[in-house]
Amino acid sequence: MPRVAIIRGLRTPFAKSGTSYARLTALDLGKLAVSELIERSEIDPKTVQEVIFGNVIPSVKAPNIAREIVLGTGLPRQIPGYTVGKACASANQAIAAAADMIYRGYADTVIAGGSESLSDVPILFSRNMAEAFTGAAKAKGVAGKLGAFKRVRPKDLVPDTPAIAESATGLTMGESAEKMAKENHISREAQDKFALQSHQRAAAATSSGRFKDEEMTVVVPPSYDTIVESDNLIRSDSTLEALSKLRPVFDRKYGTITAGNSSPLTDGAAAVLLMSEEKAKAEGFKPIGYLKSYAFAATDPFDQLLQGPVFALPVALERAGIALKDIGVIEMHEAFAAQVLSNIQWMGSKKIAQEKLGRSEPVGDIDPEKINRTGGSIALGHPFGATGSRIVTTVCNELQRTGEQYGLVTVCAAGGMGVAMVLERE
Ligand SMILES: CC(C)(COP(=O)(O)OP(=O)(O)OC[C@H]1O[C@@H](n2cnc3c(N)ncnc32)[C@H](O)[C@@H]1OP(=O)(O)O)[C@@H](O)C(=O)NCCC(=O)NCCS
Repeated sequence: MPRVAIIRGLRTPFAKSGTSYARLTALDLGKLAVSELIERSEIDPKTVQEVIFGNVIPSVKAPNIAREIVLGTGLPRQIPGYTVGKACASANQAIAAAADMIYRGYADTVIAGGSESLSDVPILFSRNMAEAFTGAAKAKGVAGKLGAFKRVRPKDLVPDTPAIAESATGLTMGESAEKMAKENHISREAQDKFALQSHQRAAAATSSGRFKDEEMTVVVPPSYDTIVESDNLIRSDSTLEALSKLRPVFDRKYGTITAGNSSPLTDGAAAVLLMSEEKAKAEGFKPIGYLKSYAFAATDPFDQLLQGPVFALPVALERAGIALKDIGVIEMHEAFAAQVLSNIQWMGSKKIAQEKLGRSEPVGDIDPEKINRTGGSIALGHPFGATGSRIVTTVCNELQRTGEQYGLVTVCAAGGMGVAMVLERE
């Protein structure tokens, strides 16, 4: 099997939705990340054979964001592109799909990543209102056009916004995380401590310049008078006391999940350049890492929604032929502190292994101190479609920095899904 090399990865700084990128679309952000990735990688754009991008809340006008990125970044128009949606694991799916093309020998140079703008979500009209509009468009004369609206009632004027909720269970991600916190007895204090650590580590990584190879500067179009040099959600002054005072959001009476220990609604994009090892070496590129294995899995969303990584991890480890103890760098996506702590609890439990995973032994113990050494999605932000690409890049750069051989990425996703990816240094 040819190995798949990750040449480099890059992301825009992440921004709280409605702030620095309030007037940009996911496409704008994706174009910025891909253009600069190509420039920094010094590849000939003609050699790119496919662009694959993750996006969770697609634009109604340009749903295939990957192809639009090709057309909007000056890449040769002959390069095809397609968009994948696998909730928060979308960029991981894009990377896995790119790797599969390379494994098969169908391509040797692919760009994969993801983008999201939660500042630019489609606002829909009710079905009645939409029917009235299409009826009016077809009707002849003013009376006919006005007549098309006769069945419209005031409630039909209320816009329909996308909810971050499971259509199967009806619960939002936050409510599902509350359920996990309660069932696994994850205390408010443990969640807040974890969130604080995320901010402190992200702040330290930013001030030490750790992200300079993976984070670009955005001069925000169209006026170009705002310059975004780093993530704007990190709170370097966060304290446990301030976190402990925040009111629970998803279960106001008995809950423990707050704005402080949840990932925030975020805008941003991230991309990686993948090549076959053979091509990378022949052309003198120095890969930051290699994808050794990956596994996607799903659990019953009516059980504990965000436990997907627990199911994916043992499969990815088996496919890589290594054990959890061999891994030196671990990045777990932080949808909520309660979710990460619940994932870790289940991974270490023999009872869960036997009852839920059909395995005799637990997946393994993960020391919460060892994960997300440069902060995670709680502090950095979580543009749904982009996060997987950010994390893969961070793990590879950490492997380079620390000299560790193996790295691990886990991401939980809506629908009860999860992914684990094993990366290696050389
Ligand atoms: C939790 C959520 C509803 C909060 O949204 P919000 O109310 O817009 O959040 P804000 O950033 O305004 O924070 C609310 C308050 O908490 C405070 N706060 C947030 N983080 C804090 C921290 N680390 N320390 C201290 N205060 C903090 C803010 O300052 C703000 O205070 P204010 O009201 O006095 O201004 C939103 O982020 C959310 O829905 N997150 C989950 C996203 C999700 O489901 N993702 C899917 C995961 S897979």
